[in-house]
Parts: sequence; C-alpha cells; structure tokens
Amino acid sequence: MSETPKPLILTGAKPSGELTLGNYLGAIKNWAIMLEEYECFFPIVDLHAITVGYVPAELRKHTYQCLAQYIACGLDPQKSHIFLQSQVIGHTELSWILSCLTPVGELHRMTQFKDKSSKPGASVNAGLLFYPVLMAADILLYNADRVPVGEDQKQHLELARNIAQRFNHTYSETFKVPEPYIPRAGARIMSLQDPSRKMSKSDENPGEAILLLDSPQAIRKKILSAVTDSDTEVRMAPEKPGIANLLNIFSAITGRSVEDLEREFGDSGYGTFKNALADALIAHLEPFQERYREIIEDKTFLHGVLKEGAEVAQARAFKTLRKVYRKAGFVERA
Ligand code: TRP
Repeated sequence: MSETPKPLILTGAKPSGELTLGNYLGAIKNWAIMLEEYECFFPIVDLHAITVGYVPAELRKHTYQCLAQYIACGLDPQKSHIFLQSQVIGHTELSWILSCLTPVGELHRMTQFKDKSSKPGASVNAGLLFYPVLMAADILLYNADRVPVGEDQKQHLELARNIAQRFNHTYSETFKVPEPYIPRAGARIMSLQDPSRKMSKSDENPGEAILLLDSPQAIRKKILSAVTDSDTEVRMAPEKPGIANLLNIFSAITGRSVEDLEREFGDSGYGTFKNALADALIAHLEPFQERYREIIEDKTFLHGVLKEGAEVAQARAFKTLRKVYRKAGFVERA
C-alpha cells in the first residue's frame, strides 16, 4: 500500500441478471484495470432497480448473479469495495437532503426520465423521477474523485456535480465535485442485429447480445447470424458497421490489431471469419464461466465479500452523513 491515498473512483451498476459482452468489454474490463491506480468503490445499486416494475425474488437472484459475474470478470474484492447500496445506511438519507436542494424541473428535464416515463404502460413513480438524486448521493457519500460513466449517464453525472456545488454553496465546502472518468480505450460494442445501437440485453430479440454465460452453441449461433452486408470483404469501414463491430469484438478479446485480422480474414469470406470469431469468444469466455459456476454456488463466500464491502463503505458513509447533517443544521445525536 502506498502512503498517499489513491484517488477514489466509484461506479454503480444495477443488478442485471446476465451481463453482456458489451458490459464486459465496454466497462467491467476497464474497471479491473483501475484497481491498481484508484481506490475503487463498486456499489451494486439495488435500490435503483426498483424504480421500474420488478419481481422481488428475481431482484435477489440477479443481485447474487451480478456479484458473482463481477468477481468472475476479474474485479478482485481484495482490491476493491464491492457492496450493495441497500446494505449501507446513508444513500437514501443523503438523497433526501440532496433532493431538497434539487428543483423538480431539473429532474423532469433528464433524458432518461423522459424516455422511461413516456414508454407505454410505464409506472411513473416518484422514485423514477428521483433516480438521479439517489445516484448523486451514491457518488457524494464517498466523495468520489472520478466516476466512469457511459454516454447515457453523462447528464446524471452533470446533475450530481451541480448538486454538489449547490450544497457547498448553500452550506459550506463539503463535497468534492466529481469528474467523469474517460477510460483509456473502452471498446464500444454494438448490437449484433442492429449495429447502429449499443449491444444490450433484449428479451424480444436474444440474438442482439452475447451474454457472458451463453453456451458455446448459443455463442456460435448468435455470431453466425449477426447482421453483416451483401459484400464479402472483411474490412473495417463506415459502410460496413456489422463487420466493423465483429472486428472490434475480435480485436478486443484477442488483443490482435484490426489490421492484423483484416490481413488474415480479408478474403476468407464471412462464414470463415465468423466461425473463427465464435471459436475465439468461446475460448475467451470459458475460464470466466467456470469461475462463475464455482462462485455462484458459494453463498458463504459471496456474503463475506458483501460484508467486507459494506463495512468499509459504511464507515465512510457515516462520516460523510454526520458532516452533512451538522452542516444542514440537525442536532447531533448524543
Ligand atoms: N444510473 C446508473 C446507470 O443506470 C447506475 C448508477 C447508480 C451509478 N449510481 C451510480 C453510476 C453512481 C455511477 C455512479 O447505469
């Protein structure tokens, strides 16, 4: 351990049951790299998960699955703090204080709220509207220096920065204003069926995304039926978004350059190229899947990770919360 404290990075993810290859290559793989340079907090934001309709038993199952997948992906719980948002007192407390500093209009203007609340049949509950304030609390509770966020969360991080500044201005200097963390080289993995969209899990069309826990047969089937074009050349080009996406995936998992792959597969035809990619993916995911199967069965281990994570997080959270309550004028508990 070095003497000077490392800067603190925090990023939250909702407990989705199965992670996609896009989640892994676009985010989690980079988190594992951050462990050396930063002190890392990885809350699984289960309280955020209930802002849309959900099934309680599924939430619990997905939370375990998410945790086990993180660890199997290489997030070392010895080197980071992985915990559940719902197990640390302070997230919702701070979010209340912050919500009293947040104009409702700002929340109504959040793109994600507008999208989610305009979906047919959406339950537009107050939690959905307050979602970004809880996210700000997640970040500010630990005085995070940096927050890795994808495109879709930039607006929420900007709001968290505004809220931090508003608190500091209204009371006195308390919170660090968090900066976005731009990963050195995050692969942007697109849908296999519509390469203009980000790869994400879709129940209607499972062919869109490779899941990290997909069987070898499923992986091959999805890669072979990935959308390409009527040409035959394996080449990186803007007018060939399907092939470009597959080349990016191939390069990200093997570490080979795109040029190198083009040289090998340029004229081999799409079938050969896709089969080679499927082979590489299956081999790449095998150790992950094996590790996952071990961990998911071992509830004692998983509970231990969560307990340790929550202990560290709770100590920090109480410290911030005490300070915030004092500044906001609450009488200290004797
Ligand atoms: N809102 C984020 C998402 O949907 C998840 C999230 C919650 C988060 N709290 C956070 C991300 C704190 C970064 C920091 O992806």
